[in-house]
Amino acid sequence: MEFENKVILITGAGSGIGRAAALLYAQNGGTIVVSDFNADTGAETVEMIRAAGGEATFVSCNVAKYDEVQKLIATAVDQYGKIDVAVNNAGIGGASWHKTAEHTLEDWDNIIAVNQTGVFYCMKLELQQMTGQGFGSIINIASIAGLRGLPNNSAYVASKHAVVGMTKTAAMEYAKRNIRVNAVCPVFTITNLFDPDKIPVEGLGDKLRRSIPMKRWAKVEEMAESILWLSSDKASFITGHTLSVDGGLTA
Ligand SMILES: NC(=O)c1ccc[n+]([C@@H]2O[C@H](COP(=O)([O-])OP(=O)(O)OC[C@H]3O[C@@H](n4cnc5c(N)ncnc54)[C@H](O)[C@@H]3O)[C@@H](O)[C@H]2O)c1
Repeated sequence: MEFENKVILITGAGSGIGRAAALLYAQNGGTIVVSDFNADTGAETVEMIRAAGGEATFVSCNVAKYDEVQKLIATAVDQYGKIDVAVNNAGIGGASWHKTAEHTLEDWDNIIAVNQTGVFYCMKLELQQMTGQGFGSIINIASIAGLRGLPNNSAYVASKHAVVGMTKTAAMEYAKRNIRVNAVCPVFTITNLFDPDKIPVEGLGDKLRRSIPMKRWAKVEEMAESILWLSSDKASFITGHTLSVDGGLTA
């Protein structure tokens, strides 16, 4: 199996895309460090993996807190000795959809802290570990909102553009050290973060779905497959790439 004897660390793995990726890596033989700041849902993901015969452990971590990210990386390495793949997936959408002038400062700060600074904290420590061990593959979960604008989501768009920029920069810095750094950019995928029925702008959900050439929302399993492939040795010469998984939207 492709990920046999490989240790995969995933943040935000208690739900949605992170959970789907955790389950798929486990099906492919990987040992999973499931992390989330929600201990109940994180533990559920571990139970799902174990029930299917896989190996996983849960480590609680709020990625917006540097000391908690330090503890996460240290625990993973103490327990399993290395990190082959890190998927920096934890993210939030923010409290509400507002035009830039109406965006609250609180929402701005929260989104930047989790989506942008959280990815930086994780990458900083993962890259230290991977440099020491001499190999590694990092996947940052950005968004199509990291590649183009999305009205009413200023902070989210800013944070995801930052993730794309950090991905490209780290990829160039660590290419010679046998560490690849890539980003997956999902389009709208139904999860706790994105529920088309809860968009507070009349008719916008429908408009967004129709703007996708394939005319449907993405599935978490489609994101998981792309994350797995891009992190795997099959993508061994790909680094600094942003892989849009978007039914043709950014085309
Ligand atoms: N769903 C979409 O349409 C979509 C589109 C593009 C990008 N994304 C990105 O995909 C990633 C996963 O999102 P999802 O759609 O699966 O959402 P989700 O809400 O289902 O999952 C996000 C997980 O992250 C965890 N989390 C949130 N804040 C955290 C923090 N500070 N520290 C640790 N864990 C935290 C949550 O508890 C949850 O388990 C996010 O980065 C999101 O921005 C999602």
